[in-house]
Amino acid sequence: MSLGIVFGSTTGYTEELAYKIYDAFEGSAELPRDVHSTPVNRLLDYHVLVIGVPTWNHGQLQSDWAERFEELEGHSFEGRKVAFFGSGDAKRYPEHFQDAMGILWRRFEALGAELIGKWPTESYQFEESQGLVDEGTNFVGLAFERHDSEELIEQRIRTWVAQLREEMW
Ligand SMILES: Cc1cc2nc3c(=O)[nH]c(=O)nc-3n(C[C@H](O)[C@H](O)[C@H](O)COP(=O)(O)O)c2cc1C
Repeated sequence: MSLGIVFGSTTGYTEELAYKIYDAFEGSAELPRDVHSTPVNRLLDYHVLVIGVPTWNHGQLQSDWAERFEELEGHSFEGRKVAFFGSGDAKRYPEHFQDAMGILWRRFEALGAELIGKWPTESYQFEESQGLVDEGTNFVGLAFERHDSEELIEQRIRTWVAQLREEMW
């Protein structure tokens, strides 16, 4: 079972998170790849793909993911599992919090992928998000905020990675 992590990151925060998630897998994931330099066909190297995407510019995909978005068309992710982690800012952008996770998931869903790693919305304060599933009770994946404490980040990653380990089989 091959496990890959791929992220897009404009100011480096999602990249940092990708490496923290990689560490939490304790050797069972390959080193994170930046989608900026990873062609779409390399995303098919993995049975399980953990995807990091920040939301930018009022509900838009981060720019490197935006470039890959059209290129994904025509590739099949049938039989593959995908998990998402997102980075956003609910205080400044409460009406577009974590939209990018939802935009990207719906693309992968249309290509046949199965979603794992959904994350409850209950401890977050925001108004609207395109990154929701299950009638708004869950985010598509693990949602981070720029101002989260290190302790909260580490705790959420530990919980989420344990959940992924259960759901990836
Ligand atoms: C101009 C600008 C627009 C943003 N728009 C959103 C947004 O619509 N929704 C959201 O949740 N976060 C938004 N953010 C917050 C970013 O997602 C957050 O800073 C993130 O950590 C950036 O990740 P990166 O460093 O990996 O690019 C925005 C930030 C900036 C500077």
